[in-house]
Amino acid sequence: MAMAISLKSSANAVLLSCIVILLSSSSGCEANGRVGGGSIGAGGHKRDPSEIVFNVLKFGAVPDGKKDNAIEFIRAWRAACDSPGKARLVIPAGNFIAGPIVFQGPCKGPPPITVQLIGNVKALPDMSSYSEDFWITFEKIDGLIVTGTGTIDGQGSLVWKYDDCKKGGSCSVLPANIKFNHVTNAIIRQFTSVDPMGFHIGIVLSQNVKVRRLHIRAPGDSPNTDGIHISQSSQVKIARSIIETGDDCIGIIQGSTDISIVKVTCGPGHGISVGSLGKYPDEKDVRGILVRNCTLKGTTNGLRIKTWGGSPPSLASDMTYENIIMENVKNPIIIDQSYGKANAPSKVKISDVRFTNVVGTTVSDVAVDLSCSQQVPCEGVELTNINLKNTGPEPLTSNCVNVRVKYAGMQFPPPCPK
Ligand SMILES: *[C@@H]1O[C@H](CO)[C@@H](O)[C@H](O)[C@H]1NC(C)=O
Repeated sequence: MAMAISLKSSANAVLLSCIVILLSSSSGCEANGRVGGGSIGAGGHKRDPSEIVFNVLKFGAVPDGKKDNAIEFIRAWRAACDSPGKARLVIPAGNFIAGPIVFQGPCKGPPPITVQLIGNVKALPDMSSYSEDFWITFEKIDGLIVTGTGTIDGQGSLVWKYDDCKKGGSCSVLPANIKFNHVTNAIIRQFTSVDPMGFHIGIVLSQNVKVRRLHIRAPGDSPNTDGIHISQSSQVKIARSIIETGDDCIGIIQGSTDISIVKVTCGPGHGISVGSLGKYPDEKDVRGILVRNCTLKGTTNGLRIKTWGGSPPSLASDMTYENIIMENVKNPIIIDQSYGKANAPSKVKISDVRFTNVVGTTVSDVAVDLSCSQQVPCEGVELTNINLKNTGPEPLTSNCVNVRVKYAGMQFPPPCPK
């Protein structure tokens, strides 16, 4: 049936008929897929020959750096997502401008659906067109691959002046470059995220998400540009990525369980942070965090766990930090349970936290700062083979409040007095 469509007819007509066919029957649409496919297949990944390609150009997108292509991207996604066969959405080479985009599932074909980003997509630099906390979102999708050598550019430098969150009190969060919301079984890899208005990448209410070889980039002084922000998600694995940004490299907040961060390089930025926890009532526990073979360069914190002073009860437990290299990091190891409010004790209970093989240089004198809650002291904190050197003249020290630390192996700075 698909073969009957003339390849000589206009590309749009071909694709439109393809959609009609897809919507009206369960037959394949391979001929159109090849039309749309062009030279795709880049990246060296084996392609399923039955996969149908949906190229945004065939849906009217124009990479002229001017036109808002959000509608065309969404139309191409709808066609791909509603296709009964294996589908790939392709954003080819070129500079595409786009306003807010929702890539919504569930999709009809066999998972995963692939989004291949080859070109550059830049956010429409008009704040009035964004009503939510994201620019691009993927939601309610089971089985998703987002891959490619392209760039997602939030053009944040044009709007960072509107960020009022540093002033305290209520503030409006600027839109994240990409939010994954209710996404399961996903692989996110290779592309570059640049200058988001708000966070680079948010992972929310999602499960089994693998993030690999991303390059995340924004100036060190850009406001609230967290690299990867995880909440209420489980089985999130972040590996082999480079994150240079203005706020947390990776931020892990409430309801996150079974999170691993391996071979990630952070800096500039605020380091790898569990928290802030306890900002809201009824936060879910955080459990099972592994940070291994990571490097922090020039960050304002290294490995940080922070909870709000006066926070309601919850648990943060089972956190392992292993083989970590610090280069000129301020606060390399820090637990801060009075974040925001110094005088009210936090009720977030922190337990079973292991720091093993943490080496390198720091620019602060208190290299290990464990300030736990008076109401619920930390338990099961272990430091093994800590070897930090000060770049300044002062000797390094440790600070321990409401915590009894179990030490093993070498300790620079020297342990807290018993
Ligand atoms: C992690 O780092 C340790 C110590 O530097 C090294 O021995 C080990 O091979 C690394 N692991 C991986 C998977 O690279």
